Amino acid sequence: MKAEDRYKQMAGEKAASFVQEGMIVGLGSGSTMYWMVRKLGEMVQKGLTIAGIPTSLQTEKWAKEFGVPLTSFAQNPDIDLAIDGADEIDPEFRLIKGGGGSLVREKVVAAAAKQFIIAADESKVVSVLGHFPLPVEIVPFGFEATALQLGKLGCDPQVRTKGNEKFVTDNGNFILDCSFSRIEDPVSLHHKIKMLTGVVETGLFLNMADVVIIGDQRGAQRMN
Ligand code: 5RP
Repeated sequence: MKAEDRYKQMAGEKAASFVQEGMIVGLGSGSTMYWMVRKLGEMVQKGLTIAGIPTSLQTEKWAKEFGVPLTSFAQNPDIDLAIDGADEIDPEFRLIKGGGGSLVREKVVAAAAKQFIIAADESKVVSVLGHFPLPVEIVPFGFEATALQLGKLGCDPQVRTKGNEKFVTDNGNFILDCSFSRIEDPVSLHHKIKMLTGVVETGLFLNMADVVIIGDQRGAQRMN
């Protein structure tokens, strides 16, 4: 296994240790969350009673594979704890997410959770956000016009593709990947993007993460 994958595994498994009996848990998306969900499956096998709300169809598949019981917002609109990965984490725990294309569901789940835990490998820690292209989910109708408006904010939006096709999110939308290089004021940028018609959500997760767990060669440790 590559070192980066080992770090993801350690961080994901450590994050799972925050889950306690009876909790409703938001299950994030991405390769780090694979390990977290797998660990939760083991904990359920040993008798832990929990229910998860997945943030993507892929995570739902993993939860079913590993025997993590699932619930929905209809049954449980309040989430005790959400755990997720990240593409970038700055010193104020502001995040870029959406590299896997699940940012809308991830943000809805994180916003509904009493506590939000991020688990990631060391490569995700940055001093300034923006090296990773910011994912922005938009409705497909008129996406060319939305991209044009977004470009006026200082990036060159690229429609995300999968093979020869446009990538379509679990919500039936498109993603524009926006390279800003340095995002000096994430709050202002987030609000400007949200004001654009056609935009569903940005991958900037601000003021949301309570705990950050980073996996590196020393193991997995909390940043706070
Ligand atoms: C998906 C995400 C993921 O959490 C993010 O891309 C990190 O993924 P990985 O754990 O595979 O590095 O935001 O939308």
